[in-house]
Amino acid sequence: MQFNASLTPAVTLSTQCLLLPVFKPGTSTPRQTATFQKIDDALGGLLGRLLDRGDFSADAGATLLLPELAGIEAERLLLIGLGDAEKFAEPALRSAFASALEAACKLKIERLAAAFADPLLDDREPEWQARITAESALKASYRFTAGKSEPPKPVTLAELTLVIDDTLDKTRAEQSLALGAAVGEGINYARELGNLPGNVCTPRYLAERAVELGANGALDVTIHDEKAIEEMGAGALLAVGKGSAEPPRLIVMEYRGGAADQPPHVLVGKGITFDTGGISIKPAADMDEMKFDMCGAASVFGTMKTLLAVKPKLNVVGIVASAENMPDGRSVKPGDIVKTLKGLTVEVLNTDAEGRLVLCDALTYAERYQPASVVDIATLTGACIIALGDHASGLFSNDDELAEALLEAADESWDRAWQLPIWDDYQKQLESNFADLGNIGGRKAGSITAACYLSRFAEAYPWAHLDVAGTAWNGKKGASGRPVGLLTQYLFDREAEALEADELGPLEEV
Ligand code: BES
Ligand code: MN
Ligand code: ZN
Repeated sequence: MQFNASLTPAVTLSTQCLLLPVFKPGTSTPRQTATFQKIDDALGGLLGRLLDRGDFSADAGATLLLPELAGIEAERLLLIGLGDAEKFAEPALRSAFASALEAACKLKIERLAAAFADPLLDDREPEWQARITAESALKASYRFTAGKSEPPKPVTLAELTLVIDDTLDKTRAEQSLALGAAVGEGINYARELGNLPGNVCTPRYLAERAVELGANGALDVTIHDEKAIEEMGAGALLAVGKGSAEPPRLIVMEYRGGAADQPPHVLVGKGITFDTGGISIKPAADMDEMKFDMCGAASVFGTMKTLLAVKPKLNVVGIVASAENMPDGRSVKPGDIVKTLKGLTVEVLNTDAEGRLVLCDALTYAERYQPASVVDIATLTGACIIALGDHASGLFSNDDELAEALLEAADESWDRAWQLPIWDDYQKQLESNFADLGNIGGRKAGSITAACYLSRFAEAYPWAHLDVAGTAWNGKKGASGRPVGLLTQYLFDREAEALEADELGPLEEV
């Protein structure tokens, strides 16, 4: 999709469809935007009458399409309800923009304009609004088409013009649109990988996608195949892949946007392309959804995709530990003891707790980068869905500053997370009579003991774990692309921090 900003007033802008935000009438301080007033005037007060009569509720997320209006140049006007002006806040804005762009994507149009010149929130810059517009447009335009022999109706929308006024510089507006679009693209890429079925999206398929992302030297990509995994001693990852005809892969993508000596931020993704549970097999109901068990990995791919478009001055390494968890004569069995890359031995008490087994070796692999931070992302535990539902990802960390930075990025991107403790008290639950530790910690605090297990392999650096079991997909509706919004924001913030430190550097020396 193409994005541009235009200083042409909304009334005279010629476009196939114009989006116009509308507050709910009848509140104590009726507040409509300046653009609304101008369009309403050009239409002889039609919009005011529509609202007075209740023909358009202007409830948050409501839309009304008005075609062929005399008085404005646009061929159609699409009203977007914002709800009560008094209660209006960021979540309402985000959901209104989302429904507006979803409605626009259902129209048979190529060109759309958004009359979003007026800042709708007091505490948000117009640049931010531009960014959210583009991100919402990309997200709304996504369709999963790979599965049907007759692909569903394609989205025809190809161009979005953001109407701005002179409070916003055109170049800055277009940069903000590009940034939002890049984040949207990353989110959609993660959704696509997540939605692909297990018979397509295998560890080898993910490895191919990494090689593709790295084409033309944009990323340094290394693929460790099963033999290499065995030779390096990553026995836990190897064990999970043992029961499958699809061999495991350890995928490494290095993005170098910063100085060569700048320690990288590392993202580690759980890439179980299908989780049957293995010998500790899962029940049949909803097992199809275990194709989404690589959504942590997908978020690493999505984030890499965004980084390649935005090119921040930062070093970032993406590591994906990928395997298919299957029952078979060769599968790892309950009670088997495997040796991890770190050297610790693990008693596999439940083969369905496979995510932590593949991740622990990837976390040890990350040590070689002496990273500034390591964040792993995993659809790790059903218990996390019980604890937090599908609104917040579970956050666990051995470093308060890192946790704080991630929570801030989560709020900023509205891709929210909530921190849970990993106190030593919980570590006891992982004790094993036969190996250094077991891979499960019993029924109590299932998400926390999973994180505690990971923490044993993440002692060498500031580390955080995001359990996205509840947030990475919405049932049969498919992958959400979370937490690409959070991760990209986290990394942009690190870039800003590094640039600020660079600028302050010489001052401090004086
Ligand atoms: N991939 C699952 C976690 C999961 C389950 C995510 C359902 C989303 C929906 C993970 O590999 C798993 O099976 N975890 C087990 C751990 C248990 C055996 C300790 C779980 O959560 O039941
Ligand atoms: Mn499992
Ligand atoms: Zn799993």
